[in-house]
Amino acid sequence: MRMDSITDFMDKDHRIIDALWKNAHDAANNQAWLLAQDMLTIFTQALLLHIDAEEDILFPAIEEKQGWEEGPTSFMRHEHKQIRYQLQQLEKLADTGEYHEFLKVGDLLTALLALHNSKEEKVLYPLCDQVMGIEHQEVLDLIKGRIGKDAHTHTGQKIETGS
Ligand SMILES: [Fe+2]
Ligand SMILES: [Fe+2]
Repeated sequence: MRMDSITDFMDKDHRIIDALWKNAHDAANNQAWLLAQDMLTIFTQALLLHIDAEEDILFPAIEEKQGWEEGPTSFMRHEHKQIRYQLQQLEKLADTGEYHEFLKVGDLLTALLALHNSKEEKVLYPLCDQVMGIEHQEVLDLIKGRIGKDAHTHTGQKIETGS
């Protein structure tokens, strides 16, 4: 893997978002709903920033490069829709403090994110690093500009991801 790779940057952002989700989930699990709402807001902002950067910058770039009209990125966009829907549900459930429903939707989101992220990390991002050619740095810079230069700044705090 090259030093400054899309894979490296985006993998790291996934781990940060995972850590933010754990904070929100733990708070809800303890029925600390005010905290859960705050943590959920931070998590949601980070996740939406990430998937918007994919949909607006990374996916169009790889689609153009590969000549994809219907391809892996359409499937990723479809999963993003499901993720967005679950985020809206979680926000409502945290507002009303519905413990069991929150954990149920939370489990669905955990599973979906794990699958989705692993497909991106194992297949899509490495492919982007391989084929992007002279546009590689420009695409990566655009993503960093959107998400935050070191994939930490969007949360306003440094998060320990254990990696
Ligand atoms: Fe994604
Ligand atoms: Fe992603």
